[in-house]
Amino acid sequence: MTQISLLKDKHILLGVTGSIACYKIVDLASKLTQAGAKVDVILTKAAQKFVTPLAFQSVTGRKAYVDLWNEDAHVLHIGLGETADLFVVAPCTADTMAKLAHGRADNLLTITALAARCPMLLAPAMDGGMWDHPATQANLETLQQRGVMFAGPAEGRMASGLKGKGRLVEPIDLVGHIRLAFAKQQPLAGRHVVVTAGGTQEAIDPVRFISNHSSGKQGIAIAQAALDAGACVTLITGPTAAARPTPVGAERINITSTLDLQQATLAACKTADVLVMAAAVADYRTANPAEQKIKRAQMSDLSVQLVENPDITVSVAEQKQALGKPNITIGFAAESQNLLENAQRKLAKKSLDLIVGNDISAKDAGFFVDTNRVILIDKDGKIERLPLQSKVAVAEAVIDWVIEASVTQ
Ligand code: PMT
Repeated sequence: MTQISLLKDKHILLGVTGSIACYKIVDLASKLTQAGAKVDVILTKAAQKFVTPLAFQSVTGRKAYVDLWNEDAHVLHIGLGETADLFVVAPCTADTMAKLAHGRADNLLTITALAARCPMLLAPAMDGGMWDHPATQANLETLQQRGVMFAGPAEGRMASGLKGKGRLVEPIDLVGHIRLAFAKQQPLAGRHVVVTAGGTQEAIDPVRFISNHSSGKQGIAIAQAALDAGACVTLITGPTAAARPTPVGAERINITSTLDLQQATLAACKTADVLVMAAAVADYRTANPAEQKIKRAQMSDLSVQLVENPDITVSVAEQKQALGKPNITIGFAAESQNLLENAQRKLAKKSLDLIVGNDISAKDAGFFVDTNRVILIDKDGKIERLPLQSKVAVAEAVIDWVIEASVTQ
């Protein structure tokens, strides 16, 4: 299963209503189409004031519908409703929310909404205090009680210049919400997966620190893959990954040092079914970090005493003895030489179920790049060598292994 496959061949009905945010939805339709989905767009009359059917047809390669009466299709709304896997309305105005809440059927979008049997996801967009108005809130509650999912609205500046809750969530986040909607039926639904990503920082003084080149890409890709597989995900990231966006649906915990990471990981693992340690963790920290910035004059003969950090995977294994969690622990081994031997040694020493041996000696794998070349070794000694591929594909391979292991457990 890959992230692309989660949306591949899925039939998404995309209802577009009359908000200035319409222009962002052409980008959404394009992203969904590129991810392999079949996107049928329905525009209300008000939406056509902002964006044309042709704009959508150009990015989806499929017809965009504007009303019921000019189509030669037989009872179009039934056909569209029957074949859809998900009905997304984005942007969803307060007026359309009210119509959906009350079962109105005065245009192709609302008629199709009554005919559709698939899940529905609304992305509200409205200005000023409209979102907070009791009528809108009552419609929200009615729709949520029927199981309608919501993406946003986000806080921020709106077209009027007012600030508040009412902005359409960004298209990339909408894709994340749509993925979550489809992930509910995936094999890891109900499982808690903890992923660590990025590099730690060990302070020398308030300004300087010891760290590494990990960007967090590989760990964050694993978190997204786990979300796509239906899991509830806790993502624990070091400062080197701080700027990277959080995959929609993941709980994010930011840490700084190895000791912080150990504390956060042990706490999260109390309820974890799976732990994936993709973080690049400092094995040593400074014995006595300076409280004040070390002056330049003192730097010339500075010597920094280091003390060993705890091995977090070992401490997780110790906690598992008492708590029985996590059921599956996966580690990485970043090696520049003797990859197989070093990975096998760490697999045993850290009581892992699987280790991802990461060859960081080549320029096209490991740090600084979007690709990785890994070998998977499980606790029974089975070795699977993967070709150079994207970190997303490596993430999918790791999560596919988890799915396989979870089924056989
Ligand atoms: O983040 P990217 O830029 O995408 O880079 C990806 C990566 C190269 C960082 C990633 O693929 C990777 O290899 N991560 C593990 C790096 C690492 O710390 O490997 P290690 O061989 O030093 O540690 C072995 C395992 O023990 C790792 O799972 C590590 O998280 C864990 N560990 C290490 C030290 C420590 N004190 N406690 C630990 O639990």
